[in-house]
Amino acid sequence: MEFHVSLAGRGDLSARIYRQLHEAVVDGRLRSGEKLPPTRELARRLAVSRNTVALAYERLTAEGFLVGRVGAGTFVCANPPAPAPATATGPGAVPPRPVWRGLATPRASTRRPPYDFGVGVPDTSRFPMAAWRRQVARQLRDVTAADTLYGDPAGHPGLRAEIARHVGLSRSVRVSAEQVLVTNGTQQALDLVARVLLAPGDRVAVEEPGYPPARELFASHGARLAGVPVDAEGVVVQALPVDTRLVYTTPSHQFPLGPPMSLDRRTALLEWARDAGAVIVEDDYDSEFRFADRPLEPLHSLDRGDRVLYVGSFSKTMLPMLRLGFLVAPPSLLDALRAAKRLADLQSETTNQGAMAGFMADGLFVRHLRRVTREYAARRTMILTVLRRDFADRLEVVPSTAGLHLAAWPTGDVDVTALVERAAAAGVGVADLAEYHGFGPGRPGIALGYGRIDLDRIEEGLRLLDEVW
Ligand SMILES: Cc1ncc(COP(=O)(O)O)c(C=O)c1O
Repeated sequence: MEFHVSLAGRGDLSARIYRQLHEAVVDGRLRSGEKLPPTRELARRLAVSRNTVALAYERLTAEGFLVGRVGAGTFVCANPPAPAPATATGPGAVPPRPVWRGLATPRASTRRPPYDFGVGVPDTSRFPMAAWRRQVARQLRDVTAADTLYGDPAGHPGLRAEIARHVGLSRSVRVSAEQVLVTNGTQQALDLVARVLLAPGDRVAVEEPGYPPARELFASHGARLAGVPVDAEGVVVQALPVDTRLVYTTPSHQFPLGPPMSLDRRTALLEWARDAGAVIVEDDYDSEFRFADRPLEPLHSLDRGDRVLYVGSFSKTMLPMLRLGFLVAPPSLLDALRAAKRLADLQSETTNQGAMAGFMADGLFVRHLRRVTREYAARRTMILTVLRRDFADRLEVVPSTAGLHLAAWPTGDVDVTALVERAAAAGVGVADLAEYHGFGPGRPGIALGYGRIDLDRIEEGLRLLDEVW
């Protein structure tokens, strides 16, 4: 492709050519080894003298960005000097609004510890990739001309119907497909809810400890956050501020501690919300993995006043990379939520949605869930067995009945942050509960996920944890 050089801007003509070529090499638009046009040709294109171009080339060559090869031409160097790191504070730097200053996003680490008890991640190696590939291929094969255009912002009709059926059967969340919105994961569902329901300064109550991306999302919308403590029965209703507009909660498997919200607490929370005129966002992120007979009714089905928005995710049951989640909303909010989705991104990508609909309709989703739940149950039992056997004098496991991780509190005096660091150095990845506290230090503890660790590595991983205690 011909590199475009503009002569607009300040400085003499040679300096302008120099600057643009320099930037293109530094930011990678011109790659190592790429050939530049001969000076004569570029000079003709730009209607400048050949000398003007040659001067720019000479300077870039002297600085190590270009190299001239006799008889062959001028090329971008194999290893041009590295660009200066971008600074956030130069005189012309544009600052974000203050609310964004505390919301820096750490880069995802690709390094996995050998004994990975990471939280919030499923075992992607158990994913039936071949069956999924066939569903995706079918979508691409059967795509019609109309499918390739824009669709309904609320999502693929087939997937909305499958989700309605699924939550109706497995969670007794009785809704029509019309009430289901497909989103790019839970995170976008929360974003849409915030857009539609929150004005800057509105009070949002979140669980403490809780799920940081939810807390940060509401903060980014200008909400005033209140961290509400969680006890053995779930979020402490008496601690909810009276002016709360929205409560974000994880009743099936409190994130990150794990206990399910008791039925009494669910009833109390719903009553409180009715009296306060507040809405509840029920994040049911990993309750499909169930290890007790009968799950409690979701807040959504206990609610008779349409105050509960129910959010689900395929990140744990399928793959996080699919970015598939959903929102079940009361009819009064549907039009606004659909409009919010349209304004956010017009619609979610349709091939994966269609493939997911097929995967569910063909019974493959339920089969996959059954299979991985068996595997996760075995891992969870193994962790519990070892903790009870070897850590009984040091750790109190927080009771839970669902999900992909367990939390535990040390009973003695131990610096958990230092312990987690020692464990990491020994190749054992466990989470420090301090990561999930947003309003103060909180009770120290650890969380152990079983989405990523194979059954036969659990004992050795916990033995190493024992060693560094
Ligand atoms: C509490 C909670 N909600 C939701 C999710 C999933 O988010 P998403 O659907 O955006 O991937 C997670 C993932 O770790 C979570 O821990």
